Amino acid sequence: MLVDRAFRKGTGSLAWAFCLLLAGNLAAAEPEKDPVTKLVKAENWELVSANCMACHSTKGFTQVRQNRANWEKTIRNMQEKNGLWPLGEMESKILDYLEKNYGLPEKALTAKIRRPLGD
Ligand code: HEC
Repeated sequence: MLVDRAFRKGTGSLAWAFCLLLAGNLAAAEPEKDPVTKLVKAENWELVSANCMACHSTKGFTQVRQNRANWEKTIRNMQEKNGLWPLGEMESKILDYLEKNYGLPEKALTAKIRRPLGD
């Protein structure tokens, strides 16, 4: 584990790791969000707003991070248990949006810290 290694190297490098993380977070621009739904305003967000906000707020979205396959399962679940209608051609666009904005990060969250060689 990265953190373990940082600990073993001493608190000095751990502090540096946090500084780098902080700098990285500050540098990353906050995505623009819709003030009403709180959804990230990226491509296809209107589709998600129209289809997924009909029964509930964005609570599920802003807290859930999952990959495309699991978002698809969530949609099936909504359809089977909660009465979500068939999404037809919109489904892949909605999945694109969910994957991109509420998916799992492709790289480790600590992308700024180089993984030690041989790991
Ligand atoms: C017809 C009503 C309805 C629509 C439309 C709907 N949902 Fe839901 N959703 C519910 C209900 C009811 C719950 C709470 C019960 C539950 O957890 O299954 C819920 C809960 C959730 C949750 C949190 C619980 C979980 O299962 O992870 C997520 C995430 C979610 N919905 C995502 C979506 C997405 C994405 C869409 C659009 C593609 C959507 N919902 C559209 C009814 C709906």
